[in-house]
Parts: sequence; C-alpha cells; structure tokens
Amino acid sequence: MTIRIGVVGAGFIAGRHVESLTGLDGVAVPGVADPQADRAQRLAERAGGRAYGAWEDLLDGEELDALYVCVPPGQHGAVEDAAIDAGLPLFVEKPLGTDLATAERLAERIAAAGLLTAVGYHWRYLDTLEQARGLLAGRPPRLLLGTWLDAAPTAPWWARQDQSGGQTVEQATHLLDVARVLAGEVESGWAAGGRSPDGPGDVHDACTASLRFAGGALASFSTTCLAPRGYRIGLQVVAPGLGLELTEHELRIADADGERTVERAADPIEAEDAAFVAAVRGEGDDVRTPYAEALRTHRLAVAVAQAAAGGGTVRL
Ligand SMILES: NC(=O)c1ccc[n+]([C@@H]2O[C@H](COP(=O)([O-])OP(=O)(O)OC[C@H]3O[C@@H](n4cnc5c(N)ncnc54)[C@H](O)[C@@H]3O)[C@@H](O)[C@H]2O)c1
Repeated sequence: MTIRIGVVGAGFIAGRHVESLTGLDGVAVPGVADPQADRAQRLAERAGGRAYGAWEDLLDGEELDALYVCVPPGQHGAVEDAAIDAGLPLFVEKPLGTDLATAERLAERIAAAGLLTAVGYHWRYLDTLEQARGLLAGRPPRLLLGTWLDAAPTAPWWARQDQSGGQTVEQATHLLDVARVLAGEVESGWAAGGRSPDGPGDVHDACTASLRFAGGALASFSTTCLAPRGYRIGLQVVAPGLGLELTEHELRIADADGERTVERAADPIEAEDAAFVAAVRGEGDDVRTPYAEALRTHRLAVAVAQAAAGGGTVRL
C-alpha cells in the first residue's frame, strides 16, 4: 500500500523530509503547500506532486494518509487542528510553537483523539546517542555542558521573538532534548539572556542557563547567534571516569582507554522519517518523540527562555 503524505511548508527542512520520504519504498508526496508559490512549486516538482498556496486547499484537494507540518514556530495551531479533525497522523517539526499555550492545547486534543504523532527531534535517532546511553549505563551523568554557538539563520522569521520563540526554543531545544534522554528531568534552574547592538531582530543574542536535574546532575547551557558560523554545537557529558561530547555528526569519548571519536553511521532525519512511515503503516513502533514527549522538552525550553527574559528563575 502506498502511504500518501502531504507537506505543509516548503522551506529548508521540508526539502530534507521530501528527499528522504521519496527515497522510501511505497511513499508518495502528492501535494505540498506554501504561501510562497515558487517554493511550493519547486518542492512539489521534486516530490512529483501538486503545489498548493494554502494548506486548507492541500487537505481538500488530496487524499492523504499523513501530514508533515514544516512551518515556522509561530505558524503552528490551525493546521494541526485541521489534521486532528481529519484524523490524519501528524509529523510536526520542532519547536511545537513559540510558547506553551498552543502546544498544551494541541497535546490535549491529540491525546483525546489517540492520534499517531512524531516531532522532528531527530538527534534522538543518532546511533551515537544510543552509544552514549550505553556508555552511561551504571555511570550516572554528573555534569552536562550544552553549547549552541552559531550565526543567526537567514530565514526572515528567525530573529523575531514572536515568530521563532528565540534561540533556546528554536535551536537549543535539541540539546535540552538529548540532555533529558541522558540525564532525566530538570527540577530547577536559573537563566539570563542579553542583547547587544550587533544582535539581529529582537531575540536574545546570548543566553546562559544553569540547571539541576532531579537525578542530581548539574548542567549549563549557553547559546549565541553572534558567531560567524555554527562552530560549537553539541552536548558534553561527564560521569565518573567518562567524558562524552555529542554533536549532530559524531561522539567523542574520553575514558580509561584514552580518547576516540565515533562518526554517526546513519542520517537521523532519514531514520526518523522511516520510523514515522513504518508507524503509519502499523508496522513499526519506533517513534521516539511523539507529541506528548516533545512537549516535555518544549516546556523546559520555554521555561529557560522565560527565565532568561524575566526574573532568572526557571519555573517548571
Ligand atoms: N529538525 C531540525 O533540525 C530542523 C532543522 C531546520 C528547521 N527546523 C524547524 O522547521 C521549521 C521550519 O524551518 P525551515 O528552516 O524549513 O524554515 P524556512 O523558512 O526555510 O521554511 C518555512 C516555510 O514555511 C512556509 N510557511 C509559513 N507559514 C506557512 C503556512 N501557514 N502554511 C504553509 N507554509 C507556511 C514559509 O513560506 C517557508 O517557505 C522551524 O520550526 C524550524 O525550527 C528543524
């Protein structure tokens, strides 16, 4: 049976998903919707489907088995509501929104409908993350250092707080997500954010947070979008006798045997797409970040961002 997937948003990440989805056997992308007509047209051609200007027309015009929502963070809400109404399994790109209200409301509707969902926290599919988990078994993490030192992406919505939610919510959320996988839940913390005349838009251009995990680990996460390019993006973890540094591409390991680097063996975006499609077919059970799980990470990211913008205390 062919699984027919509609795609909402035809920007960078939608392109990555279309590339991997169309490489899977028995998957078709019959329609792509984006108000930027040239983008919708280009991606629809790559997918072998039809271009739509509005997602409402895509939902009316095609028979679909699932929907990918690849819109900027400030555009979530109505499209997910329509998919829930139609009973369509949903793949939603992270973050779930710019703040919590929309995501909390959608999570309740998704749970009530029992809908299959997945969220694009693709670091969860790094084989190197699995390896890190194995190395940490029986050796609980004591210290985590997360850094996202990057240049501001050029997408026009990115530097607008009301459209992206800022760098912690939009980017560092990946690091918070893998930190939760490796160290469990955060119980308290403190954060500060700042802006300089060189910063883009109205988002913080530097932010730092100190967090305490319920299991006892301490962590600090720092982000900036003032760097010339993304040159230090990853999470370091120290446990007794073990140091790890996970990036999107590799895992560096320091232990009693010395130091070594393991490259990731597979593309995590291809892996998350294959897992979602298998789940839609009813043949797989490897969706690692359903909506409710992604919401736990999003709550943490929003709490850190709010603390950085306000009184400093991370309220969970
Ligand atoms: N998982 C990852 O690592 C990863 C990587 C990149 C982006 N993302 C996420 O994906 C989302 C999109 O990012 P991007 O880099 O592709 O941005 P982008 O700007 O390249 O593309 C977004 C597209 O959505 C379209 N759009 C806006 N409102 C729409 C609407 N109501 N209906 C249909 N289309 C609409 C825009 O016109 C644009 O073409 C963001 O939330 C971002 O955080 C995730």
